[in-house]
Amino acid sequence: MLISSLVATALVGAAAAQDILTTQLSFSGYTNYLYRDDVTSSQLLFTEANSTNVRTRFIAAFPAGNSGAMAYFKPSTGNTSALTLSLVDNSLKSVQYDCNQTGITGQWQLSQNAELDLAVLGSVRALRDYVEGGGILHPEMNYTLLQSSNNSVTLYRNFFNDSIAMNFTMTTDKQIQSSGNTSIALPAGTYQFTITLNETTLEGIPPATLLNQQNETIATNSSTSDSTKMVSFLSYSEKLLAGGWRFLTYFGRDTLISLRILMPILSSDTIEAALGAVLERTNITDGELCHEETIGDYASWVNMQNGQADLGSKPFYDYKMIDTNFEFLPALAYYLLGLPSGSGRATPFLSKTASLANNMTYKDLLQKNVDLVMNQSSSFAQNPTADNLIHLKDGVPVGNWRDSNPGIGYGRIPFDVNTALVPGCLRAIQKLAEASILNSTLSQTAASYANVWESKSLPLFSVPLNSTYAEQTLSDYTAYANLTSDLYMNSSASGNSTSPPSEIYALSLMEDASPVQTMNSDFSFNLMYNDNLTAELLEYSVNALRPFPEGLLTNVGLLIANPAYDSNRTNWEVFTRAAYHGTCVWGFQQSMMVAGLGRQLDLCNGSSGSSNTSTTTPIWCSNSTLVSNIKSAQCTLWDIILSNPAVEFAETWTWTFDNSTKSFVVTDPAALTPDSTEADAIQLWSFTLLAQDKPSYCS
Ligand SMILES: *[C@@H]1O[C@H](CO)[C@@H](O)[C@H](O)[C@H]1NC(C)=O
Ligand SMILES: *[C@@H]1O[C@H](CO)[C@@H](O)[C@H](O)[C@H]1NC(C)=O
Ligand SMILES: *[C@@H]1O[C@H](CO)[C@@H](O)[C@H](O)[C@H]1NC(C)=O
Ligand SMILES: *[C@@H]1O[C@H](CO)[C@@H](O)[C@H](O)[C@H]1NC(C)=O
Ligand SMILES: *[C@@H]1O[C@H](CO)[C@@H](O)[C@H](O)[C@H]1NC(C)=O
Ligand SMILES: *[C@@H]1O[C@H](CO)[C@@H](O)[C@H](O)[C@H]1NC(C)=O
Ligand SMILES: *[C@@H]1O[C@H](CO)[C@@H](O)[C@H](O)[C@H]1NC(C)=O
Ligand SMILES: *[C@@H]1O[C@H](CO)[C@@H](O)[C@H](O)[C@H]1NC(C)=O
Ligand SMILES: *[C@@H]1O[C@H](CO)[C@@H](O)[C@H](O)[C@H]1NC(C)=O
Ligand SMILES: *[C@@H]1O[C@H](CO)[C@@H](O)[C@H](O)[C@H]1NC(C)=O
Ligand SMILES: *[C@@H]1O[C@H](CO)[C@@H](O)[C@H](O)[C@H]1NC(C)=O
Ligand SMILES: *[C@@H]1O[C@H](CO)[C@@H](O)[C@H](O)[C@H]1NC(C)=O
Repeated sequence: MLISSLVATALVGAAAAQDILTTQLSFSGYTNYLYRDDVTSSQLLFTEANSTNVRTRFIAAFPAGNSGAMAYFKPSTGNTSALTLSLVDNSLKSVQYDCNQTGITGQWQLSQNAELDLAVLGSVRALRDYVEGGGILHPEMNYTLLQSSNNSVTLYRNFFNDSIAMNFTMTTDKQIQSSGNTSIALPAGTYQFTITLNETTLEGIPPATLLNQQNETIATNSSTSDSTKMVSFLSYSEKLLAGGWRFLTYFGRDTLISLRILMPILSSDTIEAALGAVLERTNITDGELCHEETIGDYASWVNMQNGQADLGSKPFYDYKMIDTNFEFLPALAYYLLGLPSGSGRATPFLSKTASLANNMTYKDLLQKNVDLVMNQSSSFAQNPTADNLIHLKDGVPVGNWRDSNPGIGYGRIPFDVNTALVPGCLRAIQKLAEASILNSTLSQTAASYANVWESKSLPLFSVPLNSTYAEQTLSDYTAYANLTSDLYMNSSASGNSTSPPSEIYALSLMEDASPVQTMNSDFSFNLMYNDNLTAELLEYSVNALRPFPEGLLTNVGLLIANPAYDSNRTNWEVFTRAAYHGTCVWGFQQSMMVAGLGRQLDLCNGSSGSSNTSTTTPIWCSNSTLVSNIKSAQCTLWDIILSNPAVEFAETWTWTFDNSTKSFVVTDPAALTPDSTEADAIQLWSFTLLAQDKPSYCS
């Protein structure tokens, strides 16, 4: 998570070469270096001297097998001053040795005599087990210490199955003392460090071909070129990665949501890499789409734990999320039918043969997912009750992007999946069938299902509020949260309402269909994925984009949740500003909101144009007050986004209320909950704002 210190600067020198991608950024106490060329791809982290992170840490992470090396250093006995370890400028290079060993080398400066405190070599998942799992180490993953000379040590590990060998070497001009398997005394000074392993490198998609030709200046503009490099670092012809250093591998939701928003600026190569990666990981039995893959050394480990060591490092694909299943078809339909880059691509793309999924064609895999969507949506289409909505899987407490149990208020039936994604998916099937990309007999059934889902699911999430109740609870919550009614009274916010909303939409429903009455930002999914929205939902959107705590807007961003109207006041304690999915901001939700509002307005222009696949103009477009209110809400959100440049491409952040200025201040959630999970410096979906232009009608 970033915070005020998200500073990205290109490494001068190295970046001059066309085929080398380098960039760096300071994030939450670590300097992150990204390096990629034809030989390797690696993200390195060094604890910063000014960091409040007490331990001096180095990490190198490699996406090819989601592998990495991590080392902690401590001052040698007697030393009490702070130890620093920093990269020597412009020293990073790739290396290529015998036995297919490839990796990264560079120089670091160690400020004083130190000892190796601890090291982990293997899967990034094993590094995470240590960092996030309260110090879990797997003794089976121990490395071996080799000292070939006085001034060089190597930590060596053969991955499970002896499939991959990793070497982490540190060399200096003074004497290094080691004893036993883990004790290493490192003198202060300059070191050459090298980490190599013999994993096949992925094929990176460079900034030059990441974007489509109309938008390639985004890769060279000074304000966006570093962010484009970071997206490029996460993009490979095999798959897009979710983020780094912790998630340098495939995640379905991150891929598909990012893709949907970024698609207008991406090249068809990038789009097809992302779509292909999802299809390749389809469950060929039931058509579910993969949430997360476990590969490399950790796959071996999981297989061993399951008593299936004979499977070697065969990947494990996780299908526990329910949203991913409904995020592929809308992206595919938009690409093939809505974008110039997708025109004529249906046949060549869908006739590809999958390399991971049993040699099936992409078209066969697509059909599996279509069958799943049709099957799972049919009960509600026939009998639209809450029971027949899509529920989280039995025994699984999560299932949509609010990937935490409290994040959806402990509900079982999420709003986004049921009101936006399923109907959006059915319309996508209808349109692909009308275009004969899918069997054309499907179009009528898909359309009739979509009609029911569009008209009957949203009302099940409606929470009517009478004004007496709404005003009272708002006032109570304002006091509870130590805020002030000045934030929303007499505000010049968008919309023509000056009082609390008369209706909100639940975040989720409990198993018994009762609503979790927390106001939330998930109508961004309706704006992004649906074409046939009611005037009521658009009016609600405008109203919800009012100042917090009446609505969701603060001067530091759009909050994803606001429990002010929740009659279950326990939720006031659940959705705090420190909670992962509480009254905090997520960058991709802001991009989806501005993109979604823009998309809806495009529908009024009758343009089947750049951002939708519809040809009919919605009825609400004739309400010029509403149209003007939507524009003004969109412009207000843009102003907020642009006035917080430090978090423009950050994943999530929260706030502190400053009573003297009566405004919010950007706050790192880690500062509120020191034992919270470490965040990633770069996260694919946090860059989705790159595809958005502030509209010319905003002043
Ligand atoms: C800490 O130092 C790094 C450079 O080493 C700098 O980029 C960053 O802004 C500093 N952070 C703070 C909070 O001062
Ligand atoms: C190096 O990789 C090539 C191609 O994958 C393989 O044929 C060869 O056996 C590998 N060499 C060693 C020493 O592992
Ligand atoms: C791994 O290392 C730990 C700490 O040095 C040691 O206690 C343990 O015995 C080692 N385990 C194996 C399997 O080598
Ligand atoms: C990687 O290197 C190790 C050690 O040289 C070797 O045993 C292994 O077969 C190699 N793996 C691959 C995939 O080349
Ligand atoms: C790892 O480093 C050691 C010590 O330098 C060397 O003997 C060994 O050959 C290296 N292994 C590989 C697979 O590169
Ligand atoms: C794939 O789907 C089948 C049928 O639902 C299920 O039995 C199987 O466990 C799924 N595979 C995985 C890896 O989840
Ligand atoms: C896929 O096809 C290739 C080439 O025909 C073959 O070597 C491989 O075994 C096939 N894989 C599966 C899972 O059928
Ligand atoms: C399309 O679906 C219909 C009805 O299920 C089926 O009869 C027909 O064979 C299918 N056509 C193709 C080309 O698969
Ligand atoms: C207003 O709503 C509250 C909370 O749902 C309810 O307790 C109250 O009876 C309602 N008042 C009126 C006048 O409907
Ligand atoms: C409001 O302020 C009081 C007094 O400082 C404090 O005890 C309470 O925790 C604060 N409430 C919230 C929600 O932060
Ligand atoms: C805003 O005004 C328009 C036009 O008068 C009206 O149709 C709409 O219902 C109003 N919206 C709200 C939330 O009051
Ligand atoms: C991408 O290119 C299109 C076509 O030139 C243009 O309309 C759009 O504004 C560009 N998008 C961005 C974010 O620059």
